[in-house]
Amino acid sequence: MAPLIKWAALMLASAGLSAASPVQDMSSSLSKRAAWPNGPLVTSGRWIHDASGSNVTYAGANWPGAGETMLPEGLQYQSIESIVSRLKGIGMNAIRLTYAIQMIDEIYENGGNDITLQATLTKGLGATNGTTVLQQIISKNPSFSASTTRLQVFDAIAAECARQNVYVHLDNHISKAQWCCSTTDGNAWWGDVYFDVGNWTRGISYMADHGKAWPALVSMSLRNEPREPVGNSAAEATYNWQGWYQYVRQGSDAIHAANPNLLIFLSGLSYDTYLTPVTKGTALTPGTGVFSLNDFAGYSNKIVLELHNYQTTATSCSSLTSSLNSNGFSAMAADSALQIPVLMTEFGFKQDATTYQGVYSTCLASFLPSIKAGWMIWVVSGSYYIRNGGQDFEETWGLTTHDWTDWRSPAYVQDVLIPMIKATLA
Ligand SMILES: *[C@@H]1O[C@H](CO)[C@@H](O)[C@H](O)[C@H]1NC(C)=O
Ligand SMILES: *[C@@H]1O[C@H](CO)[C@@H](O)[C@H](O)[C@H]1NC(C)=O
Ligand SMILES: *[C@@H]1O[C@H](CO)[C@@H](O)[C@H](O)[C@H]1NC(C)=O
Repeated sequence: MAPLIKWAALMLASAGLSAASPVQDMSSSLSKRAAWPNGPLVTSGRWIHDASGSNVTYAGANWPGAGETMLPEGLQYQSIESIVSRLKGIGMNAIRLTYAIQMIDEIYENGGNDITLQATLTKGLGATNGTTVLQQIISKNPSFSASTTRLQVFDAIAAECARQNVYVHLDNHISKAQWCCSTTDGNAWWGDVYFDVGNWTRGISYMADHGKAWPALVSMSLRNEPREPVGNSAAEATYNWQGWYQYVRQGSDAIHAANPNLLIFLSGLSYDTYLTPVTKGTALTPGTGVFSLNDFAGYSNKIVLELHNYQTTATSCSSLTSSLNSNGFSAMAADSALQIPVLMTEFGFKQDATTYQGVYSTCLASFLPSIKAGWMIWVVSGSYYIRNGGQDFEETWGLTTHDWTDWRSPAYVQDVLIPMIKATLA
């Protein structure tokens, strides 16, 4: 045992992992580590497969990075390593990392160079608080400095995820960096005030290309929660399934051209709550065309669907389940004409002492594993650098406490979340 442990410790050290990492667990999986993530991932009917044809299912959490600072949250309180370790420690295998198109727009405006932490924090939080938070981030994450760029922070998260075998799913959450989402925030639909189609395809292509250097990156979404652009008549004219299909194909082509390895996740209408015409194969109205994987020529085995659900006041699990099936999860059933993976990339609720015991939380904890659907809970963050104008903003739905040091609802994590992860990945 002794030589093995020493060898494992050396391997961990060379991989940049601390001695606090679970040596026993790591050593038992060392033989498989070289191949991880064993991609590129592909779809096969309703399953996602790795390069060996084994099923891959995601069980993870959202990690927001699309707020005003355009930095992944929490780094003034914790190191990247400790945040990834916290999720990995309960058995999660994925993060949904969000970013704003504005980040890429600014890189283009700046002659191809990204903005530094100093600049983005000063702009997002003001000179005084920006400087304070910068010092806190550097103190918790000593490999960073004032001149580290935003993308270098994303790179560091992706690298840590690779070290800990956690899949990275990149999510374009919004165009203009801010808290999401409303129908009047100018980011609702293609052609909305801040949602320029050209900037969007450029931005998702840029991230798909940039992510080629991240072994952990296995999938990307097109856009978070498409919704009615209320009050913007020009954009509203295409808010329908026909318009959706045009933009979704355009975006998928862009990502696939930039990085052919990635799975591409498509979101539905009305805040990504339903995809029924897609999964039922009915007309994409007002047109008469229908969704077909053949329309994604040359990469039909890369297309995945994602839904969100926040029916937190549900009182009956059977009616919640039946609405989830009709909203799109029926495509995971053996009798569905369209066989395609469907994930729930957002669900969440208040992390207090009791809410998790309700129908919504317990129903999803049984339904999603029962159909072996992947999922990401909203949200890991116990607080945000800034949200809706409030700095150091408390997130009562966060899995972690305000300073990200502990679980906000330890009972939920122990009694429901960990069993849900185990059942999903079993
Ligand atoms: C994937 O999982 C399903 C359900 O457990 C199983 O029927 C199928 O054979 C698995 N596929 C592979 C390649 O393991
Ligand atoms: C600076 O941050 C503190 C919280 O850390 C907050 O109370 C204060 O409002 C912030 N200042 C500005 C100008 O937003
Ligand atoms: C698109 O990006 C350019 C920078 O290349 C920026 O000036 C412009 O404001 C962006 N458009 C929108 C609608 O955000």
